[in-house]
Amino acid sequence: MQNKKGGSNINTLDLEKEKRISTNGLVPVNVRGKNFNLLMSVYKTALEQVMHEITQIKESFNKIYGYDIINNITSRIKTPDSIVNKMQKKHYEMNYKNLIDKVNDIAGIRITCPLKNDIYKTINVIKQLPNIRIIKEKDYIKHPKESGYSGYHLIVETYVDIEEKKIPVKVEIQLRTMAMDFWATNEHKMKYKGTKKLSFVDSKKLTIYAKIVNFLDDKIMKIHKKQEITYK
Ligand code: GTP
Ligand code: MG
Repeated sequence: MQNKKGGSNINTLDLEKEKRISTNGLVPVNVRGKNFNLLMSVYKTALEQVMHEITQIKESFNKIYGYDIINNITSRIKTPDSIVNKMQKKHYEMNYKNLIDKVNDIAGIRITCPLKNDIYKTINVIKQLPNIRIIKEKDYIKHPKESGYSGYHLIVETYVDIEEKKIPVKVEIQLRTMAMDFWATNEHKMKYKGTKKLSFVDSKKLTIYAKIVNFLDDKIMKIHKKQEITYK
């Protein structure tokens, strides 16, 4: 199978054995199988490639501006349990096609920046990287979510060399301010990791606190702009 750019598609990863037991080519996902591990190793390579690029950006920003426009970069591969949960929650049939086409955050990178405009500066540079193609972007900074969450999300495609072919692989990049990262990390922990369901009142409080975080981010940026700080 060829994609638009003439490269092979990740869907053609050697799933031959399982294809024989599948009537329509939609191979069932077996998270304990060899193919699943093979697929995850492709995502891991993609993640490492993008991580390398972003680390380079962080370092060159530091050289240019003399301060960190990117504060921190973390990455993770989604666990098999979490992949299965997501597919079940979204009512996707458990086949590799759906896994590859619809689960965009198997490989994920999170970038924190001091200020909102540092996020936009970083995105501009990511968009110019030659081995990366932006396939989706969501600006929750300009349009925060109902929960109050704000951030900028990119789904990008990078090209992984497999048997002399360039295979496009998706990686999710989330960018947040340091302040919003503090809020989101705690909110996520309280919402999903606790033994009790978060009360309606506490949930509302968290939304108000997210608005406070946003307010704070804007106010701090205003002072920065007023100071006209020339770094270096
Ligand atoms: P998913 O299918 O959950 O990935 O949703 P989506 O495809 O609509 O992606 P979206 O761009 O909304 O990003 C979802 C991700 O953003 C989540 O996995 C979280 O990491 C983060 N996120 C979005 N909303 C919230 C929120 O209200 N609170 C926290 N803590 N994180 C959020
Ligand atoms: Mg997600």
